[in-house]
Amino acid sequence: MKIFTPGSAGYDAAAAEIQAGRLVAFATETVYGLGGNAEDDRAVAAIYDAKGRPSFNPLIIHVPTLEIARRYVRFSPLAERLAATFWPGALTLVLPRTEDCPVSRLASAGLETLAIRIPGHRQALEFLKACDRPLAAPSANPSGGISPTTAQHVIDGLGGKISGVLDGGACAVGVESTVVGFANEKPVLLRPGGITREAIEAVAGPLLRPDTEGAPSSPGMLKSHYAPRADVRLNATDKREGEAYLGFGREYDTLADINLSEAGDLTEATARLFSALHLLDEMNFKRIAVGPIPEVGLGVAINDRLRRAAAPKSEKEEVGP
Ligand code: TXA
Ligand code: MG
Repeated sequence: MKIFTPGSAGYDAAAAEIQAGRLVAFATETVYGLGGNAEDDRAVAAIYDAKGRPSFNPLIIHVPTLEIARRYVRFSPLAERLAATFWPGALTLVLPRTEDCPVSRLASAGLETLAIRIPGHRQALEFLKACDRPLAAPSANPSGGISPTTAQHVIDGLGGKISGVLDGGACAVGVESTVVGFANEKPVLLRPGGITREAIEAVAGPLLRPDTEGAPSSPGMLKSHYAPRADVRLNATDKREGEAYLGFGREYDTLADINLSEAGDLTEATARLFSALHLLDEMNFKRIAVGPIPEVGLGVAINDRLRRAAAPKSEKEEVGP
């Protein structure tokens, strides 16, 4: 597997792989994405194949500018406002495909809508421009596993299955983008993520839950996901025999093998979450106890990922956020 380094030579070499229909993982501000040409059915099929991802779970399309996004999806006035406020950034909008949208039907799993975002990451934007094509890019991990926040995580998970990785260092946000869809011009929270509910509601008004009032659902919200090999126990206020303890804040710090943020800072905790889970797996812990994390701001996305990490791995059905 090739390692591409940021800089015009690296972007061009990685983009040449994409243009030849191959797959290259790249850093974004949220997590590493597994990029393939979204207009190429075979490249998109190769993404599902490399990840072992069920083909009913559609992919997010990444573009470098709003002007380019307009070729692929139709923006409502509310979607325009959200894009103007949060792009480039950790918000994905689910919008109707344009009539002549050239994105592979496989990428949107046959739906009439497409999930799209402009990543808030300078190197990702340079790479997207060099590709000169929209990139379908799910998180660059085997389906169901922990998302990658470093190039090494990508190599460990997908090495041998993809052409290369554009190494952009550690991801600053650390969880995936917030996914927002629409039902009759009302915004629907399909997946909590790097932009908080509070920030979106300040612009868009109250967010609906999926599957209410005719709202769409998010086909990829599987109950078991983001899972380490170890079993995960939530809201743990003690540490049992054989467990690793993943703490947050000072309250149970004495128990902690890893503390996501001693200062109790949710932004810091989000950035460390997936790395910590990767690390505890590498240390071969069989069980991970996680301390309580407040259900506000980015804590909502952290708790969403941890609940899915804790779900029995046999439970693959869909559930909303
Ligand atoms: O931060 C992120 O969003 C990362 C980086 C790489 O950009 N990407 C990512 O992609 O998390 P992925 O494929 O792991 O998650 C895509 C999510 C899934 O929950 C999927 O079901 C949902 O977006 N989705 C995609 N297209 C959709 C659509 N047309 N309607 C509803 N949900 C959709
Ligand atoms: Mg994923």
